[in-house]
Amino acid sequence: MALVPNLSQSPIATDSSPIIRAQGVYKSYMTGGKPLTVLRNVSLTIPRGQFVAIMGPSGSGKSTLLYLLGGLERADSGAISVANQSLDAMTSDDLAQYRGKSIGFVFQSFYLVPTLNALENVALPGIFAGMSRDERDQRAAKLLGALKMSDRLDHRPSQLSGGQQQRVAIARALFNNPPIIMCDEPTGALDSKTGQRVMELLSHLHMRQGKTIVVVTHDMNVAQYAERLIAIRDGEIEDDRLLKDAPSTPVDEPVHESEELNDAE
Ligand SMILES: Nc1ncnc2c1ncn2[C@@H]1O[C@H](COP(=O)(O)OP(=O)(O)OP(=O)(O)O)[C@@H](O)[C@H]1O
Ligand SMILES: [Mg+2]
Repeated sequence: MALVPNLSQSPIATDSSPIIRAQGVYKSYMTGGKPLTVLRNVSLTIPRGQFVAIMGPSGSGKSTLLYLLGGLERADSGAISVANQSLDAMTSDDLAQYRGKSIGFVFQSFYLVPTLNALENVALPGIFAGMSRDERDQRAAKLLGALKMSDRLDHRPSQLSGGQQQRVAIARALFNNPPIIMCDEPTGALDSKTGQRVMELLSHLHMRQGKTIVVVTHDMNVAQYAERLIAIRDGEIEDDRLLKDAPSTPVDEPVHESEELNDAE
């Protein structure tokens, strides 16, 4: 049985209906009393179950776009909907609920709680979901085990390496078994081998569990795991193409974590 529970409730990647839709989105920030337009007229549609990479130079608006799609920030104008629900119309509480249920977010700088250990960090979403302590701890330990972190459950973030913190952040994002996973530079802090493992894990979640995955990255080696590449420059979509190769795992590298994720329990 699979590690991530309630898999039968997860959409499998056979449905091409859009899960994320953005139409004419603008976003600006006030800096020094002047508005700085960060996203202009961004429109995109992501079908359910697609694995998308967003690439572009530093400062081009990638993280901002991900925050808008993930309901962490609001657009100035334009429309964003996820699974046919408009995010624009949601109250802050509704947005928080949407995030908790639908999105697993891996931030560019992890955002782990420094006073909590690895297990507690991963289990945090379970508190808001009303799970019992035992249930939370069991599930968190299982996810961390699948990410080869069983011997670090009681370490605080400051006692973990960058790659280990990244894995805790990923386990936390998977905790509620969300249909959509959004990652901002998921391999930015990792050596190439660990980065490859993380991408294999995301590929696995996409191919075997039908998760919709949106990854922001600078790294073409990371983007090549995706089915589609969206290039963004100066806040505008510059290019949007399907990659020739479907996501695949390198043949010379066994997918340890991915297999365990599926085979655990
Ligand atoms: N809260 C904010 N207030 C003001 N300006 C901001 C804010 N957040 C982002 N910006 C500006 O918006 C632009 C886009 O930022 P964003 O973080 O989306 O870029 P990015 O493409 O993710 O870059 P990187 O690859 O370096 O992470 C940048 O010029 C940044 O300075
Ligand atoms: Mg960024």
